[in-house]
Amino acid sequence: MNAPARINSALDVRAQFPAIENWHYLDSAATAQKPQSVIDAITEAYARDYATVHRGVYQRSSEMTGRYEAARAATAALIGGKPDELVFTRGATEAINLVAQRLPKNGRNRVLLSQLEHHSNIVPWQLAGYEIDAVPLTADGQIDLDAAEAMLTDDHCIVGFAHISNALGSVLDAKRAADIAHSKGALLLLDGCQAVPRVSVNIGNIGADFYAFSGHKLYGPTGIGALWGRAELLDSMPPWQGGGAMIDRVTFAETTYLDAPARFKRGTPHNLRRDRPPRRGRMGPRHPDGINPRPQTPLGPQGPRPPSREFGGVTFLGPKKDAGILWFISQGGGPPRNPPHFGKMGGVRVRPGTNLGPTP
Ligand SMILES: Cc1ncc(COP(=O)(O)O)c(C=O)c1O
Repeated sequence: MNAPARINSALDVRAQFPAIENWHYLDSAATAQKPQSVIDAITEAYARDYATVHRGVYQRSSEMTGRYEAARAATAALIGGKPDELVFTRGATEAINLVAQRLPKNGRNRVLLSQLEHHSNIVPWQLAGYEIDAVPLTADGQIDLDAAEAMLTDDHCIVGFAHISNALGSVLDAKRAADIAHSKGALLLLDGCQAVPRVSVNIGNIGADFYAFSGHKLYGPTGIGALWGRAELLDSMPPWQGGGAMIDRVTFAETTYLDAPARFKRGTPHNLRRDRPPRRGRMGPRHPDGINPRPQTPLGPQGPRPPSREFGGVTFLGPKKDAGILWFISQGGGPPRNPPHFGKMGGVRVRPGTNLGPTP
């Protein structure tokens, strides 16, 4: 008698998310709603366990520090990395800025990005003074790796690609991207914001050099994220922002710094990182590798991507295979920031088509 009830509650993913009752939430690529287990863990941490980390000499502080470091190990394990290669940041944007600002250029002043990159993987490189080359997309919305191979030169320091596109859901052949980058002595940085919540990631198998992702898209709190980097690369990077938590010894004449990843801490860290990041498997059924095959449609010479499907005045676009992120055009019109017809559709929450990537 109990078995059907257990199965039903396991499948009732929506019931785990108290904030989306009566909503049809289609904006998880921008930020994920939080399951009750995460809300409970945050409440417990403030109500029962709260203390600063790495500083206090009292028991609660040392317990909180233990949990914080366990969270680092769990976060690193989520992508197949080691804890001492994982820097906690305030999000993916900060992780990419850290690499852009601190990776030694070694005479290489160009980065190779793609036309589907999020602004967070474009602007940091501009601010750091790099020249950018942008790899075009294939007709069905993938990063064109043949073009990338042809465009890469000895002047490129970084190849920086989205592992999964936030706009199209297209999935990169990350291993091939790593091989291409390394063939010219460049490093591969993957923006894993959309991949970590959707597919299993193993940075060792990919051969990536840096991997950036955020907590708030992974059902966790806002204002947290991570940069994974190969140990010798993190060691080669000087501290970025100075403050209290990253020092070995400070005098007015000179300061010495901790080793990476502690060297990249800036002030009191976000100490509510817990050792139990939400397990993706609990967030609902998915294709084993997270990829949804779409019916193939013939490509027109003009349109960059073919219509895949029409449904109720909505045209779905995108690559032949996506990772559950859909790009669609609604015939209802209206200003992009305020599509009036969605308001009448039972509380559908979507992301309008601006601020997703570079302006063509
Ligand atoms: C592909 C991609 N990269 C980077 C970001 C920025 O991430 P964060 O909010 O953690 O800085 C986003 C978020 O919108 C994203 O979708």
